[in-house]
Amino acid sequence: MTIVTIERLGHHGDGIAAGPIYVPRTLPGEVVEGEITGDAMPLPRIVTPSPDRVKAPCRHAASCGGCQLQHVSDRFVAYWKLGIVTHALAAHGLEVQPRRILTSPPSTRRRAGFSARRTKKGAMAGFHKRGADVIVEVPDCLLVDPAIAAALPMVEALAIAGTSRKAELSVMVTTSLGGLDVAVSGGKEVDPQLQMQLAAIAEKFDLARLTWEADLALTRRMPEQQFGLARVTPPAGAFLQATPEGEAALLSAVTEAVGSASRIVDLFAGCGTFALPLAQAAAVHAVEGDAAMMQALDAGWRKTPLLHAVTHATRDLFRAPLDVSDLKGFDAAVIDPPRAGAQAQIAELAKSGIPVIAHVSCNPVTFARDAKVLVDAGYRIDWIDVVDQFRWSTHVELVAGFTLNA
Ligand SMILES: C[S@@+](CC[C@H](N)C(=O)[O-])C[C@H]1O[C@@H](n2cnc3c(N)ncnc32)[C@H](O)[C@@H]1O
Repeated sequence: MTIVTIERLGHHGDGIAAGPIYVPRTLPGEVVEGEITGDAMPLPRIVTPSPDRVKAPCRHAASCGGCQLQHVSDRFVAYWKLGIVTHALAAHGLEVQPRRILTSPPSTRRRAGFSARRTKKGAMAGFHKRGADVIVEVPDCLLVDPAIAAALPMVEALAIAGTSRKAELSVMVTTSLGGLDVAVSGGKEVDPQLQMQLAAIAEKFDLARLTWEADLALTRRMPEQQFGLARVTPPAGAFLQATPEGEAALLSAVTEAVGSASRIVDLFAGCGTFALPLAQAAAVHAVEGDAAMMQALDAGWRKTPLLHAVTHATRDLFRAPLDVSDLKGFDAAVIDPPRAGAQAQIAELAKSGIPVIAHVSCNPVTFARDAKVLVDAGYRIDWIDVVDQFRWSTHVELVAGFTLNA
């Protein structure tokens, strides 16, 4: 047995002692005891607990790999996530403190990616155990919207109907205005018998839409999302912000950043999460790499009265960013890239002269890199909000307002 003291919380949520020794589900300052295997102490006994250690609120926390930070107080998680952002910025010489952190409540995640397998008795569905090929059933999951947690019997029914004993089914369940929107991958090929079974499951569980790979889409009601005044039907599995509360916080910050702009370019626009609400007050040009998402945005805009013009373009913004001439005439930009950030597009934005930029990011490291380019080009960071829509996980989302110095 070895005794170690945890020095810090790593980026994957493990406590780290000198060595480094990685100790799961521990906190800085804690003294822990256990066997060390390689660079890990997989089964620590807590000798001296941290005052920030809490009893996991969810009864599945010990076995489920869905959450990494159920043993940590909200206060500590907030402080830790704010610190991740501050450190990422400091690495580029940017001394900025986020002005606040807005954490989504429990039971608000609007999407879950469940795994399901057939068993001798029927099927089991849930999340993977951490680092293991084992499914943990999570009927009382406190992370996801209750309608999603209640859908596990439906996921099991899909596994019984549509997978072999050896395969594992991936089932993405999303809440929508029309009910649950379900997208399945990893299942059997659809034949007439499976098609009938899937139709019966969609009926029995009152699904809005059930898609099976690219082979089958059963739509009983439109699985719409509300973006401002507009209702949009996203393609199956398309990106959505993680919680309605997180989305509202991001939109409110983006709206603050663009201020009274009348011509806004929305880069990495998705299905219109920001573009369509912003179109209540300004003309918007939305650009995004996925053509189906652009079509969904356009269809939502066309059937919504009272919005300003929303134009759109499908474009790979990594390979072919909008250049300075494309960006001419806009008085605000919104940019919300994937984890890799937006190096090429930011280089063009930096030269554009657009007076205000709202930058949303799910990766503080690439955000800080891209923010530095804007700052070097004469922008200042007015504020940064951390929007914690990834409660109990190590993910960090943020939004920042930039203004071009006069
Ligand atoms: C973080 S999401 C943001 C979407 C949208 N702003 C929202 O809030 O719903 C990033 C978006 O970038 C798109 N994307 C990923 N790589 C891209 C690329 N190379 N060019 C253009 N869009 C890309 C994705 O399809 C996705 O919709």
